[in-house]
Amino acid sequence: MKVGSEHFRTIWATDDALENRAVEIIDQTKLPFRFEIVKMETVSDAVHAIGDMLVRGAPLIGATAAYGMALAMRNDASDENLQSSYDDLLAARPTAVNLRWALDNMKNILSPLEPSGRLQAAFARAAEICNEDAAQCSAIGDHGLGLIREIYEKNGRSRPVNILTHCNAGWLATVDWGTATAPIYKAFEAGIPVHVWVDETRPRNQGASLTAWELGQNGVPHTVIVDNAGGHLMQKGEVDMCIVGTDRTTRAGDVCNKIGTYLKALAASDNSVPFYVALPGTTIDWSISDGRDIPIEERSEAEVTEMTGLSKSGELETVRIVANGSPAINPAFDVTPAKFVTALITERGIAAPTEGGLAKLYPEESKY
Ligand code: MRU
Repeated sequence: MKVGSEHFRTIWATDDALENRAVEIIDQTKLPFRFEIVKMETVSDAVHAIGDMLVRGAPLIGATAAYGMALAMRNDASDENLQSSYDDLLAARPTAVNLRWALDNMKNILSPLEPSGRLQAAFARAAEICNEDAAQCSAIGDHGLGLIREIYEKNGRSRPVNILTHCNAGWLATVDWGTATAPIYKAFEAGIPVHVWVDETRPRNQGASLTAWELGQNGVPHTVIVDNAGGHLMQKGEVDMCIVGTDRTTRAGDVCNKIGTYLKALAASDNSVPFYVALPGTTIDWSISDGRDIPIEERSEAEVTEMTGLSKSGELETVRIVANGSPAINPAFDVTPAKFVTALITERGIAAPTEGGLAKLYPEESKY
């Protein structure tokens, strides 16, 4: 998607010869105030980028892990390093299942090869994973566009379609297009007027810092709201639909996403607002049926007790917002039971949030 007038993906390999090839990412901890590109040269760089959230969002975490494996092979292509790099990357963040998917995929391809062939194969497969993710997100956009168009028509084409989203499930969370934002970008490109309510998404403010920024860069009308405003807007009829992303969706359609998603789904249900979840197949955990079995990441207290922003003098500054001595907890995700999800928007089409609904679209996976 666009940054200024230039097209960017969120991750790419450099043009260097294979043995010196590096991987570049946008440092999302600096957005929206600084656009900085960071070079990763080792698997530890990739572990740091994922764990400290220079990159974040389920599909991009997976893509970064894939390139992390390629960087590991640059240093040492032995079986031992393959396994220890897999383990280190897998431990970087626990909830987004795309991480495990990408690592398993890379390991299955690299393990049978002689060490001398692994570096080239790893960079090639990581690049393919990125291309596949961009194509899947684009297809999610095409399928979701129909849902937005339906609402626009139902409203007599009289006003923009108001869409509420939570966290950043935009192109910054994927390789390109985004999941929740892909239908929005496609609708915007198709000339359907849209307006996005952007939840700020405490504590890390991915909505305020990332979603608002990327929508702005791409010209999409939007308004940032505090996390608690969504229910009120729904009661006033100012939300036509919700579209969110997910870090892990069970085979029965329970959806794990950024903390606060569940409350939006409850409010949507109470107000008969359709609640859609957009995801590529790589975000489905076929081994789990019940969302309560999904590991929920606990992040540091400081993300709750402190906030970072731009000071009046133009510096990035962190301030404390909680009384000294008051403890805080920071569960990063919650689970929305499938019964509150209207439908899942996937790259293969729209699925009912049920085991049968997903099995119909992914018959090759429904072996459980
Ligand atoms: O903690 P984050 O910023 O990695 O959480 C991201 C989300 O919760 C997204 O909604 C999710 O990964 C879907 S991304 C397309």
